[in-house]
Amino acid sequence: MKKVKKQAVAILGCGTVGGATAKLLTQDIDFLRKRTGVNFYLKYIIDINFNHAKELNLDNSLFVSNLDDVLADPEVLVVVELVGGTTFAKKAAIKILNAKKNLVTANKALLAKHGVELFSIARKNKVSICFEATCAGGIPIIRAIYDGLLANKHDALYGIVNGTCNYILTEMTLNGVSYKRALKEAQEKGLAEADPTLDVSGMDSAHKLAILSSITFGMQIDLDSITVSGIDKLDQFDINSGKELGYIIKLIAMARHDEGQLSLRVAPSFISTEHPLAWVSGPFNAISLYSHALGHSMYYGRGAGGSPTASAVVSDIIGLFLGTAEKFFKTLPIWPDKTKPAALLPSGEGKGRYYLRIVLKNYAGVLAKIAAVFADYNISISSVIQKEITEEMAEEITESYVPVVIITHKVREEALLKAIAKVDTFDFVKGKIVYISIMDEHEEIF
Ligand code: HSE
Repeated sequence: MKKVKKQAVAILGCGTVGGATAKLLTQDIDFLRKRTGVNFYLKYIIDINFNHAKELNLDNSLFVSNLDDVLADPEVLVVVELVGGTTFAKKAAIKILNAKKNLVTANKALLAKHGVELFSIARKNKVSICFEATCAGGIPIIRAIYDGLLANKHDALYGIVNGTCNYILTEMTLNGVSYKRALKEAQEKGLAEADPTLDVSGMDSAHKLAILSSITFGMQIDLDSITVSGIDKLDQFDINSGKELGYIIKLIAMARHDEGQLSLRVAPSFISTEHPLAWVSGPFNAISLYSHALGHSMYYGRGAGGSPTASAVVSDIIGLFLGTAEKFFKTLPIWPDKTKPAALLPSGEGKGRYYLRIVLKNYAGVLAKIAAVFADYNISISSVIQKEITEEMAEEITESYVPVVIITHKVREEALLKAIAKVDTFDFVKGKIVYISIMDEHEEIF
């Protein structure tokens, strides 16, 4: 990095994370300088609205509205992009890199979609991109993968990487709170975004999975190759049924080797209450990695919110001033612009166990017909439970119908989907058939 007398940082975007980062870089600057031995400081906060910055009592002298002026200042060596979105943020990121400033970002959508392009622009300009805050908030998982775990080949990664979803699912599972109320609570606690669509649809987790898996496996990951389903269609009935069977529901982002190919998925999944990810509750995140030398390791912490994310942003800034970030960025061949597209397992080829819930007309012989379809598709049933109609179902389901829960043994997803489509055509089946993956604990490889 260029040598200047003073080393300055600029923050672009003063929302929740921008404000918390500015607070950390001002209130705790003496501690940070002492701890790192680097004499750096926050020089600018760039935004068009400073209401939040003023609420935080940040110094007026930091506020500027013109990014170009900041980029013209030779003292600024690092610009932190915290505006979110991919349109303005992409233009700003390119401008920052072309001005030969290092870029720190928390913007997972930006890197999941445009990582290859932005990394190569950075390289052309001999600057670096740091993105610890893009995945799992304050958990230093990116550094763990590219530094602490460098000796490992990784077999699989399983993550709970969205705090909003994990908060909602925890409330629904442990406290019987409705989806709508839990989402409202998450928003009131400042966990969910004002527009929570990206969170609850699973897309935010998919962005994070694309970034994490690209550096974990050293492959380019196309965001569109991730199969994504969210938590917004889950029914309390299934959460309760799963619970009775010893399962807890989590939104799991998964990337694993399957027969030499990579399988990528974000989906609400049942895990046993004994599974290491089962106790990750509320807004917390965790990532489980299975690696050939280390075996299983797990990384846990706060995955959302201003201060936890600022912790990751500031450590990136310090890494740039120390010169360690540049070294990794330059040397390692694992970054998305330096790797080849992943060889992916074709959709439907993955195998797993499933929970199914089918609402049936309650007369003799219907279960036998369903079992026959399953047999046709070579799907082995592990258990069948006929449930009572609960009050929450009573509105839509009359007494002549009954919910039946089926747990399968391991099946190919494609076969399962075909069997479901066939069962769906029976006139004694009411409504949509629900199917949820049951994720068993991954085996360590040594
Ligand atoms: N909205 C995200 C979450 C945090 O709830 O985890 C930012 O990625």
